[in-house]
Amino acid sequence: TSILVLNGPNLNLLGTRQPDVYGSVTLPDVEEMCETHGKSLGMKISCLQSNHEGVLIDAIHAAKGSHAGIVLNAGAFTHTSVALMDAIASVELPVVEVHLSNIHAREAFRHKSFIAPVALGQIAGFGATGYLLALDALSAHLGRGRG
Ligand code: DQA
Repeated sequence: TSILVLNGPNLNLLGTRQPDVYGSVTLPDVEEMCETHGKSLGMKISCLQSNHEGVLIDAIHAAKGSHAGIVLNAGAFTHTSVALMDAIASVELPVVEVHLSNIHAREAFRHKSFIAPVALGQIAGFGATGYLLALDALSAHLGRGRG
């Protein structure tokens, strides 16, 4: 089972970016944690980060056929991007939405997610652990050894 872990804008700055909000782990740390945890679930993890909406959309399109599911932290595009929502709806792949912070406990503009209606579910507020919970959720959804 191959899974894409996709991170959006500004998440390349994890570790130094507002550590009070997002924690001190870096994106390479998060990606390594995902690879290790994925392996224990029988998953092969591919990681990609981009600050560009179109690159994220292309990655979602390309995931169809090559990946069984996507873990997505779309960053601020979560709250703005109809195009990302449409891309997810178009590929018919299970997507688990992840946020390090609890977006519902923050500013009102972060409460709205364009990803949530087309996602399998949302995990928010558990820091980097959220990515591992998302892999668990995908594993349960896909069934062990399938996909
Ligand atoms: C985030 C929450 C978003 O509101 C914010 O724009 C981010 C990170 C999170 O992981 O908590 O860039 O997706």
